[in-house]
Amino acid sequence: MEKISIRLERPEDYREVENLTREAFWNNYVPGCDEHYLAHVLRESVCFLPELDFVAECSGQIVGNIMYTRASVLCDDGETLSVLSFGPLSVLPLWQGKGVGSALVRHSLERASELGFPAVLIYGDPAFYSRLGFLAAETFGIASADDYYFDVLQALELVAGALREKSGRFVEDHAYEVDEKAATAFDQSFPPKEKREGLPSQLRFLENVAMKKPRK
Ligand SMILES: CC(C)(COP(=O)(O)OP(=O)(O)OC[C@H]1O[C@@H](n2cnc3c(N)ncnc32)[C@H](O)[C@@H]1OP(=O)(O)O)[C@@H](O)C(=O)NCCC(=O)NCCS
Repeated sequence: MEKISIRLERPEDYREVENLTREAFWNNYVPGCDEHYLAHVLRESVCFLPELDFVAECSGQIVGNIMYTRASVLCDDGETLSVLSFGPLSVLPLWQGKGVGSALVRHSLERASELGFPAVLIYGDPAFYSRLGFLAAETFGIASADDYYFDVLQALELVAGALREKSGRFVEDHAYEVDEKAATAFDQSFPPKEKREGLPSQLRFLENVAMKKPRK
C-alpha cells in the first residue's frame, strides 16, 4: 500500500470528507445514499466525538474517514452502559481493498482505548469487522434497540470484560435518524449521480437485515 497518514479531521476537510463519503456509499446498500448528509449533521450533534474523527491522507488527498459517537447499552439490570459507536466509515472506491479502512479502524480503536472508552458497538459486515476483533453482539447478550439479534450488530471490548453481564439493548443516538427530505436537498448540492437498483451489494444488505431473531 502507498504510504497513508492518519490525522484528525479539520473544518477545511468537511466538504471533501462528505464527498468521499458519498462516493463510498453511493448505491452500495440502497439506490443512492444519505451517509454524506449524516456526516454533515453528525458533527453538530452532542453525541459526536471530534477527538475520534479521523481522516486517512495520501499525497495530500483525503482517501478515507471514520467518525465516532457516544451510544448506550440499556442493560437488563437497569444500568445504562455508555459505549462508543462509529460510522460513517468511508474509503474512496479507488482506494478500497488496500488496507485504508482497516488502518482507520485500528488507529481509532487504539485512541479510543487510550481515552478509556470501555467498548464499541456498530452495525457492519461481520466479514470485515471479525478480522478486526469484533464479535457478534449476541455473544454478549446485546440486541438491537427493538430487541433483535442481528449478525451485523458487532461488538468489541476495549477494556477486557467491559461487556460481561451487560446483556440488553444497544441504542444509537437520535442523530442517526436521517431526515430524508433534508438529505435529498443536501445531496443536490453535489454533482448529479445515477441511482441504481438491484445491485449485488444491495441484495446482500437486504439479506443481512432480514437475518434477525428476537432476543427473548
Ligand atoms: C468497508 C470499507 C470501509 C472497508 O475499507 P477498505 O479500505 O476497503 O478495507 P481494507 O482494505 O482495509 O479491507 C481489508 C479486508 O476486508 C475486506 N473487505 C473490505 N470491505 C469488505 C466488506 N464490505 N465485506 C467483506 N469484506 C470486506 C477486503 O477484501 C480485505 O480483505 P483481504 O485483506 O483478505 O483482501 C470500504 O470498503 C468502504 O468504504 N465501503 C463502502 C462504505 C461502507 O460500506 N462502509 C462501512 C459501513 S459499516
